Amino acid sequence: MSTITEVKQRTDIVEIISDYVPLQKAGRNFKALCPFHSEKHPSFFVFPEQQTWHCFGACGTGGDVFSFVMKKEGIDFGQVLRLLAQRAGVTLSSAEVSGGAEDKKKERLFQINEAATEYFHHLLLSTKAGEAARNYLSKRKIALETIKEFRLGFSPNSWDALKKFLISKEYEEQELIETGLIIEKQGGNSYDRFRNRLMFPICDVQSRVVGFGARALDESLPKYVNSPQTAIFDKSSSLYGINKAKSAIKQKNLVIIVEGYMDVLTAHQHGWQNVVASMGTSVTERQVAIAKSLTKSIALALDADAAGEEATLRSAEVSARSLDKAEVKAILMPQGKDPDEVISEDLALWQSLVEKALPVLDFAFETVISKVDINKAKDKSLAVQKLLPLVCEIKDPIQQSHYIRKLAHTLKVSESAITATLRKSQAEQRRQRLTKAVEQPRFTRQLVSSPIEEYCLALLLQYPELRQVAQGLSAEHFESIENREIFTQWQYSQNTSELREKLDANLLEHLNYLMNKPILDKNGKEQRAFSDCILSLQERLSKRLEAGRELMFNFTREKEGVNAELAKLDEQGISSSEQLREVFTKRGKLARKEVR
Ligand code: GTP
Ligand code: MN
Repeated sequence: MSTITEVKQRTDIVEIISDYVPLQKAGRNFKALCPFHSEKHPSFFVFPEQQTWHCFGACGTGGDVFSFVMKKEGIDFGQVLRLLAQRAGVTLSSAEVSGGAEDKKKERLFQINEAATEYFHHLLLSTKAGEAARNYLSKRKIALETIKEFRLGFSPNSWDALKKFLISKEYEEQELIETGLIIEKQGGNSYDRFRNRLMFPICDVQSRVVGFGARALDESLPKYVNSPQTAIFDKSSSLYGINKAKSAIKQKNLVIIVEGYMDVLTAHQHGWQNVVASMGTSVTERQVAIAKSLTKSIALALDADAAGEEATLRSAEVSARSLDKAEVKAILMPQGKDPDEVISEDLALWQSLVEKALPVLDFAFETVISKVDINKAKDKSLAVQKLLPLVCEIKDPIQQSHYIRKLAHTLKVSESAITATLRKSQAEQRRQRLTKAVEQPRFTRQLVSSPIEEYCLALLLQYPELRQVAQGLSAEHFESIENREIFTQWQYSQNTSELREKLDANLLEHLNYLMNKPILDKNGKEQRAFSDCILSLQERLSKRLEAGRELMFNFTREKEGVNAELAKLDEQGISSSEQLREVFTKRGKLARKEVR
């Protein structure tokens, strides 16, 4: 299997795109405000089944996960391949960057982040520009010592202050883009990502700065901007504060995982140095793995609000997988409070909440059971439906049987009924895995390329004279990145040997395949075949757009619902744009949690 195929198979477009834009579920698909142009209503869709995306609004473009990251980060195909390969745990071979060079490159990125951290920190502590940020921190009761300990900073309100500073330190613009500190605009210009924000350097266990979180100093949105995924930063496998927390974690033999940056600062300031943050996502398996390498005892601080339930169940499911190697507990926050508030208002309360932490599964049981009427048969099934997947994940048979008994007892049903349901759902899971395995090749084929795209390109490459009739064709017609990239580079090349030189080494295999692909329509029929290909590709694109319009239409109906809601808010006197924004941000935040 080629590296590109492997990366595609191990990468989920929904997961990658939701790192950049908050996605909302829309039936089987996801929608969002298009990240490439400004709009008020979502016309950007992600299709998990095809692993593609499309903006049906002003940009009218789409593609696969590669083209999305290329466009969003402004980097080329090779860079995206390395980025996604690293994230998916695929090792790049031969012609790709050698290990040594890769390490050196990462080392440079760490250096750049380090220089930026110092720059922001200095601005915060010792300049007039940093005054507002200093005031903000004092309003939030963050002590100078904490600011220094966490090397907090301030990014100036400028499009190029950091860029200029780093260039003066002899770093290359391209490297700056690769750290995510600088964003490349289409057309070549680049600018600072973080402007007028409070900066939180995010470090790995070895205290190397891997990325940044950045908070607005007022109510403006988005509240936080984070570094994008880079060669050295992956948010879902980082824990904020881990470098400052690791010795306390070992000493107390407990790690507490909270959600926010501010929660970590306040906790440490009040003597709770064993606290780290998952940075807004419900905790991931990789985060649990990092925590587990330091202690066998993990506590998750979970918020009590309604959205808590889904997030809690997901955290519990992730945790259940580790129960044979670690103990995972849940600390329940009082309604509407986060650890930051609890700790600064009432340290004794925090202490007792930590002491009262329940095993995360018991906690999940309570959350679910408290919401159903266990005397109703239907509610019993519902509770089983929600809790059984967690019980399924427990590898340790003793613990698993403990929870089966508990479920049976609480719901007043027989243990054998629960066990039977468990076996059935395990069998179903196995069956799904099997069919998935059988379906995989077809799925893969569809992912890697599409026959019509390939045939079109094969004709074009094997019959140079077709170039004259290729005007109807654009890169947009190719959804699969290999084909799109080959077509794009072909446009800039006179002939195939020039094309070969321009292409990323990883695409040469695919180029060879296309150049040797048997052509059925020979002997003067090529031109006709080629026109047919163009027509089919155009047709496919219009079909996509049509389907898109339908999706948008459905959305419009939903929007009418939202409008009614707005009118209601208006009646209640919530009409300032400030308040409306708040209402919708909350909703956006819920949606974000949903997706993750
Ligand atoms: P304060 O509101 O200042 O107390 O910050 P907080 O750290 O408590 O934030 P909050 O509880 O709202 O969110 C928890 C975490 O979710 C934050 O620390 C961020 O990591 C993440 N988060 C919150 N809002 C956003 C956002 O708008 N964008 C992104 N990317 N992450 C966010
Ligand atoms: Mn907070």
